[in-house]
Amino acid sequence: MALITGASSGIGAELAELCAADGYGLILVARRADRLQELADALGKRHGVRVLTIAADLSEAAAPVAIHQQIRGETIDILINNAGFGLRGRYDQTDWDAESRLMQVNMIALAQLTKLLAREMIQRGSGLILNVGSTAAFVPGPLMAMYYASKAFVVSFSLALAKEFEGTGVSVTVLCPGPTRTEFDTAAGITDSELFRGSAMTAAEVARIGYRAMLAGRAEVIAGWRNRWMILLSRLAPRTMLASIAKRLNSSAQGVQ
Ligand SMILES: NC(=O)c1ccc[n+]([C@@H]2O[C@H](COP(=O)([O-])OP(=O)(O)OC[C@H]3O[C@@H](n4cnc5c(N)ncnc54)[C@H](OP(=O)(O)O)[C@@H]3O)[C@@H](O)[C@H]2O)c1
Repeated sequence: MALITGASSGIGAELAELCAADGYGLILVARRADRLQELADALGKRHGVRVLTIAADLSEAAAPVAIHQQIRGETIDILINNAGFGLRGRYDQTDWDAESRLMQVNMIALAQLTKLLAREMIQRGSGLILNVGSTAAFVPGPLMAMYYASKAFVVSFSLALAKEFEGTGVSVTVLCPGPTRTEFDTAAGITDSELFRGSAMTAAEVARIGYRAMLAGRAEVIAGWRNRWMILLSRLAPRTMLASIAKRLNSSAQGVQ
């Protein structure tokens, strides 16, 4: 079975499609039960696989353990920690409750589900873990400081575990998408950002890249050649300069300062 968080839209829904097409049963997790059920019905019909849905809010601290209890008895071959969201605003003006939810979903739930399921995978001697990071992980992100920092956590954490788990039969892959056409920009309130005009990739393209890298057991994959080049070049620039560029890109037409 493949357990996929954030499967109700975007990259997560596309990853669910790829797992189902390869014959994996699915456990789909997100808050919107109706969207999960629609996808479950469609994928079950199209690929003849068993699909379970769990409507859960990963911003609640108890959610990872509750999900783990709900799936007791199932063998999880693939864990995809994809759920995540962004927030924009100058840090003194943003809402702490929203930011602590962001940390819970983007980092803590991801880390806790990984711990709960990696233990079982390592005992069995096999398993695939795919964590969804972002190209935002590689630069400081003024006006989206918490989001960029949360993705830096995901990348560092995943690369460390990939090394720790070598020789156990369990691989950890981190997928770093750049701007991708999903519901992410609307949820983050950044539809007017320069990043989402122009060359955003499709969720299907990004999911395919991540899925293949996961099957190949690669530790890290950056989606798309444009993003790979950008990250390569960014390694040569001072981080303060990268912060200035990110600040301009994260500024809205309405002028978040
Ligand atoms: N789109 C981009 O440009 C981009 C770029 C780099 C990285 N990423 C990362 O890619 C991942 C997938 O995002 P996406 O682009 O596919 O955006 P999306 O279409 O907005 O999907 C986000 C998914 O996360 C789920 N989610 C959000 N908050 C949740 C919560 N509290 N509890 C449970 N599930 C929650 C959403 O489901 P519900 O709303 O139904 O709960 C949804 O299924 C995220 O980690 C994002 O940070 C996206």
